[in-house]
Amino acid sequence: MCGIVGFTGRQSAAPVLLEGLKKLEYRGYDSAGIAVMDGKSITVNKVRGRIANLCEKTKDGAKVPGTTGIGHTRWATHGAPTEENAHPHLSNDGRFAIVHNGIIENYLSLREELTQDGYHFLSETDTEVIVHLLEMYYRGNVRDALIKTANRLRGSYALGVICSEEPGKIYAVREASPLILGVGIDENFFASDVTALVNHTRNVIYLEDGEFAELSDTSIRIFDCSGQEIHKKATRVLWDVQAAEKGGYEHFMLKEIMEQPGAVKATLAPRMKEHGVEFEELTGLLPKLPSIRKILITACGSAYYAGCAGKYALEHLARIPVEVELASELRYSDPLIDESTLLIVISQSGETADTIAAMKECKARGAKTLAIVNVVGSSVATLADFAVYTWAGPEIAVATTKGYTTQVTVLYMLALYFADHLNRIGEEKARLQEALQAMPRRIQESIDMNANIPALARKYHKAKALFFIGRNTDYAVALEGALKMKEISYLHAEAYAAGELKHGTIALIEEHQPVIALCANPSIMEKTLSNMVEVKSRGAEVLALTFRNNQKILSVADDLLFMPEVDPLFSAVMEIVPLQLLAYYVARENGCDIDKPKNLAKSVTVE
Ligand code: AGP
Repeated sequence: MCGIVGFTGRQSAAPVLLEGLKKLEYRGYDSAGIAVMDGKSITVNKVRGRIANLCEKTKDGAKVPGTTGIGHTRWATHGAPTEENAHPHLSNDGRFAIVHNGIIENYLSLREELTQDGYHFLSETDTEVIVHLLEMYYRGNVRDALIKTANRLRGSYALGVICSEEPGKIYAVREASPLILGVGIDENFFASDVTALVNHTRNVIYLEDGEFAELSDTSIRIFDCSGQEIHKKATRVLWDVQAAEKGGYEHFMLKEIMEQPGAVKATLAPRMKEHGVEFEELTGLLPKLPSIRKILITACGSAYYAGCAGKYALEHLARIPVEVELASELRYSDPLIDESTLLIVISQSGETADTIAAMKECKARGAKTLAIVNVVGSSVATLADFAVYTWAGPEIAVATTKGYTTQVTVLYMLALYFADHLNRIGEEKARLQEALQAMPRRIQESIDMNANIPALARKYHKAKALFFIGRNTDYAVALEGALKMKEISYLHAEAYAAGELKHGTIALIEEHQPVIALCANPSIMEKTLSNMVEVKSRGAEVLALTFRNNQKILSVADDLLFMPEVDPLFSAVMEIVPLQLLAYYVARENGCDIDKPKNLAKSVTVE
């Protein structure tokens, strides 16, 4: 995710900004830049790639005089990772420089309006509209211009702003994206992340949504969105830098599990309109939709399992046959594909070798390609006819969590979108739309209702093997649950379609064998219940995942994981959360290197 730093003081700003940006590197980024004000002139330096390049370009900041400035690491969202798209962005009159984290949802209409008013855009970013709005509204008072600009923006933003008319001042604005002020002595700071501050000061003020701050070397003033001054107390940060990077969590994986409500919300928000789901990026696909006879989903690992989970909603709502194939198999399978096939490629990194190869193979055979991908400008995104981004932000732990849930979220949205545009949905639409909107809240409930997972992990972490069983949508989640368990805890974990038990697997059930039974799909739950009874009668210990009031399951299970009661078509996103947490705590009990499991890489760029 992007990172922001700001500094005003008496020492040279550029080295402080560069050092702050380095502290934010762990978050992932693809370009970086700083803007420094020296008297009334602003100098901007930007680079594609690493901060080391920016240090080289500016001679570690020595080439950039001035004691006030802002800096940014960019994780590309709107527009490829180029120098033009890197922040800071300048206003046409050179008066304002800004850095931005977040997404401006109404940037297209603002861009059109500003272009008509004669403003020139130099980048493809959503951010650039903000700096031109500031120029447009500036009448000698930066605060007024900020308020008027903020009133025009929809979406999320943390902004850092400097204005050449106000040497020595930096401005910070927050709406749904974190921004923290650092209180120093004869110097003050802001940053999107406390890690960039703790080397300078441990006294911080957390800005809240709708607030903005004006900082000079000796003062910090905070205002609400109407310009009314408010007074906030500084708090003291006790984390060390390493803990701060992980937001206070012990591991990135746990942090990323906890980030899922926000990541899913960010993925939903730009597409959920009052009248239904809309994908601006897919308008070119709509005329071809009626001629699509088959959807083929391909991916690797968890992304493949996301496809397995999304298949049910796609088939049920859009009524298009869906096949899900491992990319490593598909690429060598002489697939039956033509122009009436829509290939959906899923990849967090967008750089997985097998996924890219399968995609090329299918493209060559005439398939239209739609990529669900998290990294803007990645190979998968570039190769695809249509790229739909998951807005999960960078995922650092090797085991994917928010990557998977945002991928499934996009598939759910696509199911509703296709169904709507093919006129295949009626009364169900409003209810399902509401169910999608509620998902971030529901994920949080899934997290909150499972406080007993560390205790369960203590009970089960020594098991020789763990079997995950479920049917239909529950089976799809079991596949991902078992993969999470094995990749980080190194326990043997397998997922079985519960109906398959009698065809072989039940031979493995013996006294005290843990079986994790997924029971979130009422249409098939009685059947899974019978399987639970079968394995129990052979001595298994059953850990069931179900709703709090599901008496039948509760009475058979030995232990329980909980999730909120949701529509089974959209349940995978909530259902996987307790399984992610269970895998995490089992791995922790076993003393495993959770964020970097042995033998695994985050992105598998070789076959
Ligand atoms: C899951 O936790 C793994 N990291 C792995 O299975 C991953 O999902 C797979 O390698 C695909 O990666 P991608 O989404 O970046 O293409």
